[in-house]
Amino acid sequence: MNELVKFTRQGEVGVITIDNPPVNALSPGVPEGIAAAIDAAAADPDIRAVVVIGAGRTFIAGADIREFGKITSGHRPRLTLLPQLLRIEDCPKPVVMAIHGTAFGGGLEVAMAGHYRLAVPSAQVGQPEVKLGIIPGAGGTQRLPRLAGVAKAVEMCAFGEPVKSQDALTAGIVDRIIEGDLLSGAIGFAREVAGKPAPKTRERSEKLTDSSGNAAVFATAREQARKTRRGQTAPMAAIDAVEAATKLPFDQGCEREAEIFRECLFSTQSKALIHAFFGERTVAKIPDIPKDTPTYEIRRAAVVGAGTMGGGIAMNYANAGIPVIVKEAAQDALDRGMATIRKNYENSVKKGRFSQAVMDQRMALIKPQLTYDGFEQADIIVEAVFEGMALKKQVFAEIDKIAKPDCILASNTSTLDIDEIASATTRPHLVIGHHFFSPANVMRLLEIVRGKATSKQVIATSMALAKKLNKVGVLAGNCRGFIGNRMIHCYGREAQFLVEEGAAVEAVDGALYDFGMAMGPLAMGDLAGLDVGWRIRKEFKHLEKPGVRRPLVADLLCEASRFGQKTGKGWYIYDADRKPSPDPEVAALIEKTAREAGIERRNITAQEIVERTIYALVNEGARILEEGIALRSVDIDMVYLNGYGFPAWRGGPMFYADTVGVKNVLARIQEFEKRHGPDLWAPAPLLKRLADSAKTFASFDQDKETAAGA
Ligand code: 3HC
Ligand code: NAI
Repeated sequence: MNELVKFTRQGEVGVITIDNPPVNALSPGVPEGIAAAIDAAAADPDIRAVVVIGAGRTFIAGADIREFGKITSGHRPRLTLLPQLLRIEDCPKPVVMAIHGTAFGGGLEVAMAGHYRLAVPSAQVGQPEVKLGIIPGAGGTQRLPRLAGVAKAVEMCAFGEPVKSQDALTAGIVDRIIEGDLLSGAIGFAREVAGKPAPKTRERSEKLTDSSGNAAVFATAREQARKTRRGQTAPMAAIDAVEAATKLPFDQGCEREAEIFRECLFSTQSKALIHAFFGERTVAKIPDIPKDTPTYEIRRAAVVGAGTMGGGIAMNYANAGIPVIVKEAAQDALDRGMATIRKNYENSVKKGRFSQAVMDQRMALIKPQLTYDGFEQADIIVEAVFEGMALKKQVFAEIDKIAKPDCILASNTSTLDIDEIASATTRPHLVIGHHFFSPANVMRLLEIVRGKATSKQVIATSMALAKKLNKVGVLAGNCRGFIGNRMIHCYGREAQFLVEEGAAVEAVDGALYDFGMAMGPLAMGDLAGLDVGWRIRKEFKHLEKPGVRRPLVADLLCEASRFGQKTGKGWYIYDADRKPSPDPEVAALIEKTAREAGIERRNITAQEIVERTIYALVNEGARILEEGIALRSVDIDMVYLNGYGFPAWRGGPMFYADTVGVKNVLARIQEFEKRHGPDLWAPAPLLKRLADSAKTFASFDQDKETAAGA
């Protein structure tokens, strides 16, 4: 029908094949092609039934997400999928949808407009639109409850998780699972149903009727959305749209859906989440490292240190099926580390994430020991010992002697100079930073730190490994704290200044929690362990600039052995269940310290708390960008979304600055500079340049990409 949609005949069955690699998105031409092929099949007297199938790795992964930006910027008209789907549903001959890979978003909506759905066992279906800040926009919220019932439809549309074939069969979304070749199975099925009346999803209503049950379903879903999708508008909007399906006739329900879809599409949240979707894929693209750069194969790994990080890192390897040795310095530390790993896995089994057998397999891949035995076979060794340069260099010198010549040596350091660590080895080109985030088995970020000698092959291997470990790998340059911690240092500094200036600890955390952060900065310090920062401050004491204000209270807390959750006390006091409460002792300590230091105490608004902390991130981010420590502003955003609990629906600190307006951010930073001095608040030159030329961080990325391509 066109180059994206092919129409062929297999006897009395017409076969429509969608061929729009890589994921058969519904780009312009695809819906039109399908509708034209349906019309052709309807008009052909020799054809009695139709099969729709995807070429390549999948059925249809949804609308073409790249088109949304064009619609909201006025470069394209609205989405016109809905009427095309009616043409499928109104086809007088049975239309059989043959699903492999994923039928997501508009893909599932196309499938539901067909009269029958078949799927291979590995296929998945879903309405993941909420993850992009929108709702299904082509009848999904109206057809899905008719097929799967209201509860299932609400779950799928409001929370966006995919459903596997078998579950889809049970729910009534799929009519049959096809083992073996999908196309022949679908053609066989099409012959079975040819000539019979074709059931239209939109005419079904038997699963919509239980109004009292429905009310409870919607109330529970709204409650769950409030709790688990804090701050996000799309999940509630999706629930409203499904509710419309239970109260309005199909056509009016679709109109209501279209209105809600459009509101969501034009929201800043949707733009932020779409930025996050593409950002996660953009960070894998490194301009000077082509896609075909050769990589080392990682078959065996070894980790030095089984503390908070080492244990989590080892779990990542085991989860990916890679055998890993864990070496500790002392038996008790090793036992503690292995006990934590075991407990984490046991919790996952209890929660039903995987079976006991899977846990046993993973545990068997982790080999605890006190020696370097077997390290000579490792393809990668990850160091995760205490944060101290002398110790790191000693460990790197030791592993350099044992490791095979092409073994990658990675450090999990959170702040230290990768080049200096590499200088302790005879192979600086094989040394790299692999900065995991705590808890390392959960957090998706892997900051990959490039030393000056690190080879391209080692970087390419690290990026590929990140994907294998189910992480988002972001490349960072080598500087103190790299991207994430260098910025978080400024954010944490301002949070502490704010408490010294009169904001309560819980007010600072509360304002940032309400902004959408997973937790406030002071609570985060308590979780990570205040001693971690204390150790780092001691390591870098010699670099402190005299006369520049620095936070005073964290060191005092550490001197009083208040290390946070691990000691039951930090910025907060914790009960046996680790529930925090404000501690009057801390409030008194802060007040006394501030008074002695001559810091003026005043009332501070939630808005100032957010601006001081978040703009501190933005200002440092702009410097990082200008220095080339981060490749693009989107790389910084991905670090913050995946490693620091920044709300995805705000897109990341740099995207957020764009939404506030770089000029407005700069103006506020200049006010802070006046009040707190240039050492802390001199605006980054890049920020000024962007503001002066009315540009954004996004345009900075685009200009850079254009320059690289030129
Ligand atoms: N539109 C445009 N591009 C898409 C896309 C889409 N729907 N889905 C994937 N892509 C692109 C990716 O950006 C990537 O491009 P790149 O190679 O240039 O970086 C390429 O396709 C391959 O994608 P992945 O790297 O993600 O491939 P995976 O195999 O890991 O994952 C997938 C495949 C599970 C389909 C995953 O890409 C995905 O989840 N896609 C998004 C699905 C989705 O959200 N669909 C709903 C869209 S909104 C909608 O349909 C609205 C409707 O209701 C009207
Ligand atoms: P930790 O104190 O929990 O664990 C360090 C472990 O290393 C201890 O168990 C210690 O016994 C062991 N060790 C020390 N010398 C050793 C040696 N020679 N051989 C084998 N084991 C040895 O520390 P944590 O938090 O796991 O930190 C480790 C590294 O990870 C540090 O560089 C830290 O900066 C970094 N990091 C820490 C994060 C955190 O949130 N805790 C986050 C990201 C990175």
